[in-house]
Amino acid sequence: MIPDEPLVLGIETSCDETGVGIVRGHTLLADAVASSVDQHARFGGVVPEVASRAHLEAMVPTIQRACDTAGIALSDVDAIAVTHGPGLAGALLVGVASAKALALSLGKPIYGVNHLAAHVAVDQLEHGALPEPCLALLVSGGHSSLLRVTDITGTDRGVDPMGATIDDAAGEAFDKVARLLGLPFPGGPHIDRVAREGNQVAIDFPRGLTSRRDLERHRFDFSFSGLKTAVARWVEARERSGEPVPVADVAASFQEAVCDVLVRKALDAAATEGIEDLMIGGGVAANSRLRAMAEERATKLGIRVRVPRPGLCTDNGAMVAALGSTMVARGRTPSSLDLPADSSLPVTDVLAV
Ligand code: KG4
Ligand code: ZN
Repeated sequence: MIPDEPLVLGIETSCDETGVGIVRGHTLLADAVASSVDQHARFGGVVPEVASRAHLEAMVPTIQRACDTAGIALSDVDAIAVTHGPGLAGALLVGVASAKALALSLGKPIYGVNHLAAHVAVDQLEHGALPEPCLALLVSGGHSSLLRVTDITGTDRGVDPMGATIDDAAGEAFDKVARLLGLPFPGGPHIDRVAREGNQVAIDFPRGLTSRRDLERHRFDFSFSGLKTAVARWVEARERSGEPVPVADVAASFQEAVCDVLVRKALDAAATEGIEDLMIGGGVAANSRLRAMAEERATKLGIRVRVPRPGLCTDNGAMVAALGSTMVARGRTPSSLDLPADSSLPVTDVLAV
């Protein structure tokens, strides 16, 4: 029998966060996260081998912490869900192997799910069942995509890409520009903070793929590498002139350029498809300016915006449990116990066979 409100434990290890979440239906019971970000900071980016080792060390205590918080025993869960891609291969393997061990020893079904779809599904924990169709703007350290979501479990092209970045991801651009400005890694939250003191119209940075010609071929695609180079050139010119770099103004103007393009294209996609609900997910969805701008511009068009609270936007296990719980509730066939970790899993593959 399929429970309406399944108790699902979700495991996330695609990057540098070991996340274990426990949900019952759409109710979040525990969201335990152990991050190895401090170990990567001095390298200015995530070191895959360091991340894998940290996952290995954090896994058992994080599972324990999640169960304690939720007040459940492992044997209570109806299913195990795990991110099986995309992400860092070695890091994913730790999560997948742990999930398999749990599923096998507990005799419970396993659902290998897509990290990107999980970033969308997590919103159900905060705002209830996802409106389908909805338009999802997915912006993280590794991905920037516009998705038309008609079924978050992926059935019948349920998660359909309308556009994606053709070079850097939005989060990657935040991280690289932060580095240029001497801010710590990961840079997104630091730019967000510093930008509050700056003037967002101080510098007119380029909006990638928005010229009339680009729109013909790349209407719903993104490009952030030109923007990153423009910021680098601007900062270099300032330094050469001997004048101080106005870090807050650069951060605010850069952030404005990123958010402007993201929101503009997302709303254009929603309007084109006649979709009235925009969902924003992924680490960059934690950005305060993006949230405010999306809300403001969408309201004028009669489009509703759903963004999870910042803690659920960045990587966590609750998002994996949320998607797993939807899989169970909709009666999807669980994955096989020999499901692989797939570092380049396409966004359209939501559930492993
Ligand atoms: O989704 P996520 O936690 O991991 C990936 O799946 O990549 O996203 C991490 C990215 C990083 O690039 C980080 O700088 C960015 O999300 N980020 C932000 C903010 N918080 C995290 N970017 C802009 N503003 C923020 N407040
Ligand atoms: Zn992510």
